[in-house]
This record gives sequence, C-alpha cells and structure tokens, in this order.
Amino acid sequence: MVISLIGKKALVGGSSRGIGLAIAEQLAASGASVTLMSRSKEKLKNLIDHLSTDKGQKHQYLAVDFTDFKGYQEILERYFEKNSIDILINNTQGPEAGGALEKRVVDYQQAFDLLFKTVVFTTELALEQMQKNQWGRIINVASISVKEPLSYLALSNSIRAAVVTWAKSLSFDVAREGITVNNILTGYFDTERIAQLNAKKAEKLGVPQAEVRSTMENQVPVKRIGDPKEYGYLVAFLASQQASYITGTNIPIDGGLLKSL
Ligand SMILES: NC(=O)c1ccc[n+]([C@@H]2O[C@H](COP(=O)([O-])OP(=O)(O)OC[C@H]3O[C@@H](n4cnc5c(N)ncnc54)[C@H](OP(=O)(O)O)[C@@H]3O)[C@@H](O)[C@H]2O)c1
Repeated sequence: MVISLIGKKALVGGSSRGIGLAIAEQLAASGASVTLMSRSKEKLKNLIDHLSTDKGQKHQYLAVDFTDFKGYQEILERYFEKNSIDILINNTQGPEAGGALEKRVVDYQQAFDLLFKTVVFTTELALEQMQKNQWGRIINVASISVKEPLSYLALSNSIRAAVVTWAKSLSFDVAREGITVNNILTGYFDTERIAQLNAKKAEKLGVPQAEVRSTMENQVPVKRIGDPKEYGYLVAFLASQQASYITGTNIPIDGGLLKSL
C-alpha cells in the first residue's frame, strides 16, 4: 500500500513541536501541503522550510493563541476566506494537570474553551469546503483518558470525553459526504508536555524525574514511551483515501497501555 496525500491540504494545530509537528512532517512527506499553527511565529516560519516539498507541496503557517478565542476566531476566518483544507488535525495544548478537588468551575470553563470550543469552531469552518468537495478528514488528538481516566488530570479527563462524543455525533452527520471523523487516544509520547507533567509529578512525590519516567515506561507493555513519528504514521493513514471506511471511532496508540477492550 502506498499512501499518497498529493494535492491534499492539511491544517495542523499545535504543530511547532511534539505530536503536532510529527503529524505535520508525515503529512507533508506523504504529499500534502500543510499549514502549521501555534503561537511561535518565528519557529513556524523556519519549520515550513524543513517540510518536504518534493511533490510540489506548498506550506504555510498561522501564528495563533488558542487561549485568546476572539483573536483565534479572526485569524481563522481570514484564513478560510482564501484557503480550503481537506485534512483537519485538531490538536491543542493539554490543560493544566491536577486532581478533581483542586479544580474550580473557572478551570473547567477554561479547559472547555481550549479543548472543545476551538475544535468545534475550526471544524465548522473547515467543513464548508469539505462538504462541497464531498471529501474530508477530521482527526482529533485525544487521550487514552477518555477510556481510562488518568489520576491527576481531571480537566483533561472531563473535557476530552466531551470532544470524542461530539466527534462521534458529527461523524453520523457527514458520513455520506465522504468525510470521516476520528479520535486518536494518545498514550505516552516523548514530548515537552510529558517532560513537564513528569517534572510536576516528581516535585509532588519528592522523587527524581528519571524515576517518574521509568515508572511510566514500565507501565507500558512495550516498555517504552512512544516516538511522535509513530503517531505521524497513524495520522497519515487515517488521512488517506485507503482509510475511507474508518469513521466515528476512537483509535488508541499507546504501546498496549489501555487495559480495557
Ligand atoms: N505527549 C503525550 O504523551 C500526550 C499524552 C496524552 C495526550 N496528549 C495530548 O496531545 C496534545 C499534544 O501534546 P504534545 O505532547 O505534543 O504537547 P507539546 O509538546 O506541549 O506541544 C504543544 C503544541 O501546542 C502549541 N501550543 C501550546 N499552547 C498553545 C496556545 N495557547 N495556542 C496555540 N498553540 C499552542 C505548542 O506550540 P507553541 O508553544 O509554539 O505555541 C506546541 O506546538 C496535547 O493536547 C496533549 O495533552 C499528549
């Protein structure tokens, strides 16, 4: 099987590093023209020069802040006036860590705005052209926490569950138009986010960070943390024509970590 995304246009959230960047790199390597999106304008400007262009791909970037919804809305509306996309990767930064007793209503509202509101808004804009083209791929970066909530991540556990349920509902409505909607249930991947969460946990428990990391590795049946490149391969497949019969589903990528079926 050869995965070709030649001629397709993708918009990838949170793509200056980590999982988002690995997805953008793989989509570009498979032939798609990619628009990167994050806060770091200079970084994004440099990164687009490193994405693959051997199949005539043209890459762009958008400097946005997901926590400033009004500003985000304006930038995205302007972008969609001149651009259309075939593949939307909804990826935002994760919400603050912490247990349920530590979080207040205002924290849940902020997490909702970050993880849910921006995703639904971006999808609405992207869908218009996808529906005209009768082809589209909407892929949400979610977490294994929607199946098995993780301790100390109350905000993520709560709001991501809403995202995947919304995605399932949307998948029913657009299925006959050649548009698939899927969620990826992310296990542990080697990114800055994981390093930050581990540092916080190490401080809380009063143990070295390396110990937190090796405990994490040992929890995973394959005994390692995932390489973001492996994530990119899954997304490139889901974005391809070959994945047209896969929709409305949650796909774990976790080295076997989830115990539930
Ligand atoms: N890594 C894991 O093991 C893991 C596990 C489960 C779930 N996840 C989830 O997967 C997603 C990606 O995780 P990751 O590990 O790749 O995170 P990461 O390494 O921290 O990368 C986050 C990305 O989001 C961008 N970003 C951060 N704040 C932003 C803002 N306010 N506005 C716009 N862009 C912003 C960052 O770029 P700038 O700083 O340039 O803005 C960066 O490109 C997160 O939602 C995370 O919770 C990750």
